[in-house]
Formats: sequence, C-alpha cells, structure tokens
Amino acid sequence: MITITVCIGSSCHLKGSYDIVTELQKIIKNNNLEDKVTIKASFCLGNCTKAVSVKIDDGDVLSVNKNNINEFFNEYILKKL
Ligand code: FES
Repeated sequence: MITITVCIGSSCHLKGSYDIVTELQKIIKNNNLEDKVTIKASFCLGNCTKAVSVKIDDGDVLSVNKNNINEFFNEYILKKL
C-alpha cells in the first residue's frame, strides 16, 4: 500500500490542498487503485513555500499543483506499483 500524505496546513490549504486531495481521489478511482493507494491529510510538512506539499510514504516532500498532478501521479505512484 502506498500512502500519499497531503499537507492541509494553512499555506497549502490556501494553495488548494483540498482540490489536490479531490483530484488524487479521482485519479486513484479511475485507475482502480483504491486497494493500493491511500490518501492521508497532514499538518504542515515544513515546505510551505512549495505548497501544495505532498509526501509519498516516508519519502521527500514534493510540490504538487493542479497542472502537474497527472505527471506527479504517473512518475511517483504508477511507476512504483
Ligand atoms: S503548510 Fe503545507 S508545508 Fe507548510
């Protein structure tokens, strides 16, 4: 199981972490990965300038936005499965 942690701290919240969570849920569902990928919310991941901050399992903090979310998913999730 891969866990995607999405920051919902104030900076990330302002930059649309809610949309990122919704979008990720949609992508996971469309790829039938509900039993392989899970989404968790977290408070500030310490990378506010690069909001929206996202972490995969215990990896580095990555920056995700609406424009790169598909790329992000392909690169960091699909390739890991
Ligand atoms: S508020 Fe998201 S990294 Fe700080």
